Amino acid sequence: MQNIKKVAVIGTGVIGAGWIIRCLSHNKIVYAFDKDINLKKKLLSEIKRTWPFVKKLFNKKKLNIKNFHFFTSIEQTLKDADFIQECATENYSLKTKLISTIGKYAKSNSIIASSSSGLLPTRIYSKCKNPERGIIGHPFNPVYLLPAVEIVPGKITSKKNLNLAKKFYKSISMNPIMVKNELPGYLSDRLQEALWREGLHIINEGYATTEELDRAIEDGPGLRWSLMGTFLTFHLAGGKTGMKHMLEQFGPALKLPWTKLKAPKLSKKLSSRLISGTAKQAKGKSVAMISNIRDQYLVDIQKLRKKYEKKLR
Ligand SMILES: NC(=O)c1ccc[n+]([C@@H]2O[C@H](COP(=O)([O-])OP(=O)(O)OC[C@H]3O[C@@H](n4cnc5c(N)ncnc54)[C@H](O)[C@@H]3O)[C@@H](O)[C@H]2O)c1
Repeated sequence: MQNIKKVAVIGTGVIGAGWIIRCLSHNKIVYAFDKDINLKKKLLSEIKRTWPFVKKLFNKKKLNIKNFHFFTSIEQTLKDADFIQECATENYSLKTKLISTIGKYAKSNSIIASSSSGLLPTRIYSKCKNPERGIIGHPFNPVYLLPAVEIVPGKITSKKNLNLAKKFYKSISMNPIMVKNELPGYLSDRLQEALWREGLHIINEGYATTEELDRAIEDGPGLRWSLMGTFLTFHLAGGKTGMKHMLEQFGPALKLPWTKLKAPKLSKKLSSRLISGTAKQAKGKSVAMISNIRDQYLVDIQKLRKKYEKKLR
């Protein structure tokens, strides 16, 4: 298959919209479908809102809106697509059924990627025609600005299709992370979930508010994480001998342990602490207003990060 140009996006909520914008800004032809056939207007206004950020990050001049086609039939959406990005609600039975429909109407050699955040590909492709073309392509929100995508194979996904998917994601300025074998939650969400779960325990036990916990990340680890991950960060924490001394000093603490493996029950009390806590943090700003601030920041920080990444990698 030559360079992939025609992309279908199935499910156009938060993540589907992100893929559409990223693909359009990289000159792909995009066919979109959602079971909610009224989403087209919302998508057009999201494209308009995000374009200034996308344009700046990728040094683009023009977005050709004629390349965007929203259909009310899944069959028509899939007919010409060479790459299909599934972005429907996270649920095993819904995705397995939807992917089986996609497999039925898609070209037999098109690649099918699911945006799932943690479901096993072997299971969601179990009823799909030609399942060796099925992968997970797990992105991060906002998809139109963040470069990470985890490519996860199912047990019978072919090497050839994994490589084609990798090439496609690179063509839309992403940095694919090739996960060796499927595992629940893949890589990043396993890490994110651990942090989220511990945060829930701390809030549930009344030690801190959502705002206080967010500040504990934003002003410390978060600033470092935008350049380097936990392991290289901890290597530096060990002084001159790096990780070796870090393990000698902090290794024993692993036996305490500080953290709790199981998540707390999502009780009414905990849910309301999370909802009222984050509403207070929003200070009356809408999600769209905060997204604009975040998007501008992500553009600026990625431009800055490029300069420093070159020295490290
Ligand atoms: N939100 C995130 O931060 C995030 C990040 C990475 C991956 N994901 C994954 O992306 C996928 C979508 O998540 P989201 O946050 O965009 O959800 P969402 O609720 O915003 O959007 C889901 C969309 O799927 C549509 N849909 C549901 N069933 C459908 C069907 N049978 N056919 C066509 N459309 C259908 C819904 O109408 C809705 O518009 C999930 O698998 C999720 O795990 C989400």
